[in-house]
Amino acid sequence: MPADKNNILLTLIYKGEYHPISTYTNEYSSLMTLISARLAIPGFGLCCGMGSCGTCLVTIGNKYTSISRPVLACEIRVDDELSNTQITIPEPRY
Ligand code: FES
Repeated sequence: MPADKNNILLTLIYKGEYHPISTYTNEYSSLMTLISARLAIPGFGLCCGMGSCGTCLVTIGNKYTSISRPVLACEIRVDDELSNTQITIPEPRY
């Protein structure tokens, strides 16, 4: 990690398994590329971030509340706003 970057800790949840992730601002071009690189889920992010396939739909919440919101991961930047979040990736439907 470059010395001038803040560490971002988040958790990916996929198939009931929790994956703690450490990254830093803009290590990845989007949350979709981070998930693709770290979990290699087949069929995830099919349109490569064009916002048209919907395969990167995830929910973002945190461990302190039950509130979560659905987002397209390809539209989410990797920055401090993702710190301490829990990102749930649904299982593919195909
Ligand atoms: S990668 Fe296709 S909508 Fe996000």
